[in-house]
Amino acid sequence: MSRPGPRVLLLSYSYTGQSARVAGVMAGVFRARGFEVQSAAIEFTDPRYTKLFSRFPLRHAYLDVFRMLVPQLRRATGEIHVPEIVAEGEYDLVCLGSPTWWLTTSMPVRSFLHSDDAARLLAGTRWLGGDAGGVWQDGAHFTFAGGQLRSFLALVSYLASGETRKRHLGVRIPPSNLRPVFEEQARSFARRLAEGVAPTSSDPRDASAVTVGDAQGTRQSSWDHGGK
Ligand SMILES: Cc1cc2nc3c(=O)[nH]c(=O)nc-3n(C[C@H](O)[C@H](O)[C@H](O)COP(=O)(O)O)c2cc1C
Repeated sequence: MSRPGPRVLLLSYSYTGQSARVAGVMAGVFRARGFEVQSAAIEFTDPRYTKLFSRFPLRHAYLDVFRMLVPQLRRATGEIHVPEIVAEGEYDLVCLGSPTWWLTTSMPVRSFLHSDDAARLLAGTRWLGGDAGGVWQDGAHFTFAGGQLRSFLALVSYLASGETRKRHLGVRIPPSNLRPVFEEQARSFARRLAEGVAPTSSDPRDASAVTVGDAQGTRQSSWDHGGK
């Protein structure tokens, strides 16, 4: 009889679907390596922001993006809904995915990290200053094309129109959203994580550590997510 593989949870908040695309590619890699994969989405239910984020495209893209500046600088948290599967499951690996909002983790994912659900899910070695448990394994950043200004204009154009356009305010802009290379980046990131939990040369049942790999908690220096 075949042994059950390690269990991985891919948990993300995604407004325009970019973090979800990364999670989708990673899920494929984990499945191919015999992991039992569970994907879940954090919902942003805070009444102060539901009107803003319950629609796409945004009604007033510049105003709406700038509205999040102060709460993000203050590292504020808000109301979220976390699917039951997160509270119910036991996982060998937890991957958190977050968009960058004002240089840091988006409010919904930060709120999750401060929640009882996170404390239970990530219980174990202290991490993130003791707010949540978990043993940090690895992280990855995914970037858009263009430098700071042009990628910002491309983003606002996309958030305002829901379309990838060639110009915004008369300026030539690169395509917004993840570059095609993201798929290979996501695959190689997932392979790295999988290898850490269940090295291909060893018995997957030996994996026991709770591991967190994600793009959150890390300061970003540019609008094009200028990470690796
Ligand atoms: C309120 C807000 C603030 C943002 N701040 C940044 C930022 O500081 N740096 C950056 O590179 N991208 C920033 N972005 C762009 C998002 O990180 C980017 O669109 C992301 O890929 C969206 O992921 P999602 O589709 O999973 O929500 C911001 C987007 C929003 C809506």
